[in-house]
Amino acid sequence: MAGLIPQSFIDDLLNRADIVDVVGSRIQLKKSGKNYSACCPFHHEKTPSFTVSPDKQFYYCFGCGASGSALGFIMEYDHLDFPQAVEVLAKQMGLDIPYEESSLSKGQRQSVDSPLYSLLSKATEFYQQALRTHPAKQIAVDYFKQRGLTGVIARDFGLGFAPPGWNNLIKSLDADDAQQKLLIDAGLVVENADNGRRYDRFRDRVMFPIRDTKGRVIAFGGRVLGDDKPKYLNSPETPIFHKSEVLYGLYEVRKNNRHLDEIIVLEGYMDVIAMAQFGFTNGVATLGTATSEEHVKRLFRIVNNILFCFDGDTAGRKAAWRALESALPHLQDGRKIRFLFLPDGEDPDSLIRAEGEDAFRARISQQAQSLTDYFFTHLMEDAAPNSLEGKAHLASVVTPLLSKMPNSGLKTLMYQKLEDLTGLDQSHLLAIKPISKQPVKNPYNVSAVPEIAINKGTKKIKLAPAMLALRHLLQRPILITKLDNIIDLKEVEGSYGKLLLKTIALLAKEPHLNNFQLMGKLASYDKEGLLANLLNEEPLVNNEENLEKEFIDTILMLIKQQSETQLDRLLKKGSALTDEEKSQLTELLANKAKTK
Ligand code: CTP
Ligand code: MN
Repeated sequence: MAGLIPQSFIDDLLNRADIVDVVGSRIQLKKSGKNYSACCPFHHEKTPSFTVSPDKQFYYCFGCGASGSALGFIMEYDHLDFPQAVEVLAKQMGLDIPYEESSLSKGQRQSVDSPLYSLLSKATEFYQQALRTHPAKQIAVDYFKQRGLTGVIARDFGLGFAPPGWNNLIKSLDADDAQQKLLIDAGLVVENADNGRRYDRFRDRVMFPIRDTKGRVIAFGGRVLGDDKPKYLNSPETPIFHKSEVLYGLYEVRKNNRHLDEIIVLEGYMDVIAMAQFGFTNGVATLGTATSEEHVKRLFRIVNNILFCFDGDTAGRKAAWRALESALPHLQDGRKIRFLFLPDGEDPDSLIRAEGEDAFRARISQQAQSLTDYFFTHLMEDAAPNSLEGKAHLASVVTPLLSKMPNSGLKTLMYQKLEDLTGLDQSHLLAIKPISKQPVKNPYNVSAVPEIAINKGTKKIKLAPAMLALRHLLQRPILITKLDNIIDLKEVEGSYGKLLLKTIALLAKEPHLNNFQLMGKLASYDKEGLLANLLNEEPLVNNEENLEKEFIDTILMLIKQQSETQLDRLLKKGSALTDEEKSQLTELLANKAKTK
């Protein structure tokens, strides 16, 4: 294995590489002013919102918020870790990496990698070896056979056997005290709290290694050989294993499919393996946990389509709904989610073995429900949509769910469907306040500035008006044309305020800029990257009419604030006012009297 990559080399590499070449050699870029643009490679879109700035050596997507340097792009696009990305870039630049021998342990990337990986890899070898040669191996071999697994599939998934006995693994690794402590950290060994004795966590089980996306084993699932309970024992959380983020089988899916269109999310280890054995090499499973947003994000980084396959029982339906809730915030247009419910009592493992690949494919194409289909059927089940109360209830349940979705054609269509079902139009739907109130939270540290409270989904958040106005303008630059008194706004405090004034000045001249062009033109005023951060936020108001009203109100509030500051200043000046200042003061006082 190679040694460490010196930081000086990485700096040098980034100085020499041009992000435009790096990105341009992977996707087609189009010059657009100072920058380059393209359809974003990290989410599906039809109009380009991905931009590469040669000045900043930085890429940014207005659609999905992806951003980073040349190395970051290579990591994301080529699915590599950092040292691998450095290698690729160095090669592309024709440079040799001057690897340093690590002083810790020669020739190994010890300081980059956790020592737990090598232990887990040794344990994997031990369990696999035991499946081939341990005197008690036959029970495990028979178990796999009885479940219909071939030798090939067992090898592909690296299956193994933890033999009966308390310290087979500890003994085989000849672990000293320090190593035993690491084995505990790796979740492979357990220490008895009372007597301090240490023993193997996994005993008398068949072993399923759980790999990360790079193929390194990070944990295990171990299944009892009979009907004992609990059926599975999994590694605990460790520094390298976070159960709620991991998808079993994802490494294998990527390894075995060059062109992936869809990933199937299943419920268990055996489902993934059986499906792969029968030709569905695109199955993954959560590790007995609900599908999290992190799971969904990971999947959507790889494919645009996800098929959730669940048991038809109550537990499966519950799991499906949880998956749907995790998916909603990530449903940009172009992404698709389907649900397949299996007959009661069957799981993918049992079903595919019973009916075979073709029948299962037919089942998917005939029975998989689209997300919207499932969404509305599920919600209509306990609403009584013919009564007014039922309609109101439906609206109050659906609206907060839809508000979690990014703006998209699908979202609009779902609102339309809800309008059809309830007879309420979108502005009424958006005005619905969810019943459960969450505490008011200020996500930005802007307490010194007056705040505006907005209702958004289930949250009420407070934002500084300058930031809010800026966010609205970024969302819809053309809003500038809705103001007849922009010229009145000359003073706004803070970095957001300054940026807002620049934005307004720019849009006043060129109201038809899109947010992409707008951001490009403002880049030099935005050293702190505030605009990029704001664009990263999801829109606060989704309805055109509300957006306009919010925007105008915000600007009016800023103008009022400005008058007050000016008034204050003039009054403090007392008698030393110029003629011009005097007339300004009269005007301000008159206006104040009017609005009172
Ligand atoms: N699971 C777990 N611990 C348990 C039961 C289940 O961690 N005690 C997780 C496992 O990841 C398992 C998944 O939940 O694969 C699904 O559980 P289940 O459907 O009960 O298991 P199967 O995969 O169907 O296992 P088998 O076919 O071997 O009975
Ligand atoms: Mn099963």
